[in-house]
Amino acid sequence: MKKFWVYVVLCCTLLGLVAFAGCAGPKEAGQVVMGTNADFPPFEFRNEQNEVDGFDVDIAKAVAEKLGKELIIEDMEFGGLTQALNSKRIDMAVAGITITEERLQEVNFSEPYYNAGQTVVVPEDETEIQGVDDLEGKIIAVQLGTTGDMEAHDRFPKENIRQYNKINEGFLDLANGRVDAIIIDIPVAQRYIEIKGGCKTVGGNFTEELFGIAVSKENTELLEQINKVLLELKESGEFDELISKWF
Ligand code: ARG
Repeated sequence: MKKFWVYVVLCCTLLGLVAFAGCAGPKEAGQVVMGTNADFPPFEFRNEQNEVDGFDVDIAKAVAEKLGKELIIEDMEFGGLTQALNSKRIDMAVAGITITEERLQEVNFSEPYYNAGQTVVVPEDETEIQGVDDLEGKIIAVQLGTTGDMEAHDRFPKENIRQYNKINEGFLDLANGRVDAIIIDIPVAQRYIEIKGGCKTVGGNFTEELFGIAVSKENTELLEQINKVLLELKESGEFDELISKWF
């Protein structure tokens, strides 16, 4: 009898998995799927209608338009984007992703479309911490799997680093005094400071990073299209319009 129930539970799980794969699997021909992590304003975030919106979304829309396809957005964990590309669950990852040697082993990147770098965010009344070199012995918040996470681990012991799936929660912990500082991309730091208040950046950006759109190494055709669109947006002045719209 016990075996019977084990069997029933197994079957249900399997059916569930198949159904799930069915909705999230390779898309219909008329769609292009963007994977992102909507916790990174103004690149991607949830707007008042709870839709994923932002600079990256506008760029992805231009790509979809060029392809004559409908844009589908999958909001997922940042650390899951590479895997989602390689399993074809998504076609392109547009998420303020820094082009790094390490990531180039696994995916291809478009031409860079934005310059950024990591900075340090501290409470407004903080005076001791003036930059990344003053973070020795402090508790530091980062978003899991980001370059901020890697920079923190390169410099400080892991006991001092708190990894968040949503850096929004890191900002809450900074306000509550549970962490002393956040390491995050400077344009996003600035936007969070505008939204949340009570904190500031110190020391400017301590890394130089370029953002690119990631695609699976197999999908060279899509990569070419994306690069074409980026070039067209720049030549037509639309890219600058998007910059002034979002920054
Ligand atoms: N630029 C950083 C990186 O590539 C952070 C990106 C985080 N993006 C996001 N949508 N949460 O690691």
